[in-house]
Amino acid sequence: MKKIILTGDRPSGRLHLGHYIGSLANRVRLQNEYDQYILIADVQALTDNYENPEKVANSVRELVLDYIAVGIDPGKSTIVVQSQLPAIAELTVFYLNMVSLNRVLRNPTVKVEIEQKGFGDTIPAGFAMYPVSQAADITAFEANLVPVGEDQLPMIEQTREIVRKFNNLYGQTLVEPEALMGKFPRLIGLDGKAKMSKSLNNSIYLSDSVEEVNKKVGSMYTDPTRLKPTDLGHIEENPVFIYHDAFNPNKEEVEDLKRRYQEGKVGDVEVKQKLAVAINNLLEPMRKRRVELEKNPAEIDRILKDGIEKGREISGEVLKKVKKAMKIDYQF
Ligand code: TRP
Repeated sequence: MKKIILTGDRPSGRLHLGHYIGSLANRVRLQNEYDQYILIADVQALTDNYENPEKVANSVRELVLDYIAVGIDPGKSTIVVQSQLPAIAELTVFYLNMVSLNRVLRNPTVKVEIEQKGFGDTIPAGFAMYPVSQAADITAFEANLVPVGEDQLPMIEQTREIVRKFNNLYGQTLVEPEALMGKFPRLIGLDGKAKMSKSLNNSIYLSDSVEEVNKKVGSMYTDPTRLKPTDLGHIEENPVFIYHDAFNPNKEEVEDLKRRYQEGKVGDVEVKQKLAVAINNLLEPMRKRRVELEKNPAEIDRILKDGIEKGREISGEVLKKVKKAMKIDYQF
């Protein structure tokens, strides 16, 4: 049988090149080899956006547009919406018994986020528990593989612990997933900061126009020690070369630019122009697919409806197995 993949995103805005290189490119490739489900994690997004439900709701369709634009084929991948699959909520409740309060609060990803968001001593319980709901997402599809960036590894570990505990207690029921790490787990920001991120305002979005891309690439941080084109440049940790490696398929051109940069024989302008061309070439087919789908909002509805229907079926079956294992499959 084909292995099952479950991936997902919190709907909270548009997707950028960091998402592309970290996961979307993989998904487009993996959909040909695996049975792939892509979860729009709106319930999870609400755990820290519960005061902003419009932002979450509006991002759901945006996400579908991004997915289709990037090359996700709804005939090969199933897009599902978390809030529309009640089995996930039910599984979460059962799994909460499989994990201690201390364990969830010690989850490294949750810990970092609690700090970043400044929750202090008013951590919403729903937020602290989201790794448990993520375990429900993953197991509801009996996923074998979960492609993730390194920041999500603790979620997979937590899921595996819950699965093992459940299976030990109630008998072999749930599938234990494995993480599938991409080779580009995170992309440096335009400003040279560790990560491309919406909140840092250092991102190129998949939906950016040619002009936006040209402007953003033109403003990129490069080698701060290089004041003029004849200075010997450094390519390590230099965002423009990291991006060339990531997005420019013309390896000869990249090697030539790197060599000339290090020898002081090329200016930033040429390096950046060639990078902008490469990124625009990557985004152009995405822009075309996006425009097509934008013209046809009923098609977005259809994709969502079909995915939800299929998702309900599959997660409903898993819920049945879980209830049976837990002896609450009463036949009244
Ligand atoms: N936690 C993921 C994120 O913040 C989103 C997500 C929710 C997810 N459920 C998932 C990812 C299940 C993989 C599998 O991006």
